[in-house]
Amino acid sequence: MLERFEGATAVVTGAGSGLGLELARAAARRGMRLVLVDVQAQALNNAAQELRQAGAQALDFTLNVADAAAMEGLAQAVVQAWGAPHLVFNNAGVGTSGLLWEATAEEWQWVLGANLMGVAHGVRCFVPRMLEAASRDPAWRGHVVNTASMAGLVNPPNMGVYNASKHAVVSLTETLHHDLGLVSTQIGTSLLCPFFVPTGIAQSQRPGADPAHATLSQRLGQQMLDKAVQSGKVSAAQLAEHTFHAVARGEFYIYSHPQALASVRTRMEDVLEARQPTDPLADRPQVREMLGRQLGG
Ligand SMILES: NC(=O)c1ccc[n+]([C@@H]2O[C@H](COP(=O)([O-])OP(=O)(O)OC[C@H]3O[C@@H](n4cnc5c(N)ncnc54)[C@H](O)[C@@H]3O)[C@@H](O)[C@H]2O)c1
Repeated sequence: MLERFEGATAVVTGAGSGLGLELARAAARRGMRLVLVDVQAQALNNAAQELRQAGAQALDFTLNVADAAAMEGLAQAVVQAWGAPHLVFNNAGVGTSGLLWEATAEEWQWVLGANLMGVAHGVRCFVPRMLEAASRDPAWRGHVVNTASMAGLVNPPNMGVYNASKHAVVSLTETLHHDLGLVSTQIGTSLLCPFFVPTGIAQSQRPGADPAHATLSQRLGQQMLDKAVQSGKVSAAQLAEHTFHAVARGEFYIYSHPQALASVRTRMEDVLEARQPTDPLADRPQVREMLGRQLGG
């Protein structure tokens, strides 16, 4: 269990905005050395500048977490500078919405690239180096936190590509927990599942995508996502603090809105009893009615 943060190294992907930026700020408050990663150079520079001014030691890397070679280069550079990182937040991600069959191949590739392969590369590139550090020193401790979503535990309609990417992160992270359990007691794992938290996630834009070509379901989904994210009652800063406390306690599942877990229970009961999947919007009939009316004609 990673209990001592001071002087340890934290890698944060998606550190230019939202939750990643708040995780980096929370790490800096604890005296950690920071490795900040984002695909948006300007946002990343601003974050790095702010954190250095606040007294943190920070390296910053502008790269796409979906890029296997760039992630390998990142891991090599981090180990060369500061040794294996103690805390890795595979957090970068993008949002998307729309009816499943309307997503283009490019959309699938973009979302799975950031949300799934970004996490896979983080695990692939950092965990072996963490295990090596652990094997050299029995007192060495490390922890990996992967950001999924409540959409990795339930399947709301009109956001199937995002749901699929986040369910994959849940599966990957639970398996990582079991795999690490086979080989080491020195590296822990957590799965962060936010519900709606006000960040920039609804503004995610696929490079080269023309919003004028969005379908009706994508436009409606975008409006709903904007509204839901902005009205989230738990801030990214609160969730980042909560995440650090949960890591220090060695907790695996980390939730921003535990009250939203009722829908997970319902889904699990559907699975166990082989029922038809319960409508995830059943408790929001106006939204369900609006979507059905607009999309069903
Ligand atoms: N905000 C929410 O309501 C919410 C809910 C559930 C899950 N999440 C998850 O939380 C994580 C953080 O998102 P956020 O809400 O802070 O959004 P955000 O848009 O504010 O921050 C995400 C950051 O990741 C970066 N990023 C995106 N794709 C990248 C890539 N391929 N390579 C490198 N950097 C990339 C973006 O540039 C951005 O700075 C995401 O994985 C998201 O899916 C957020």
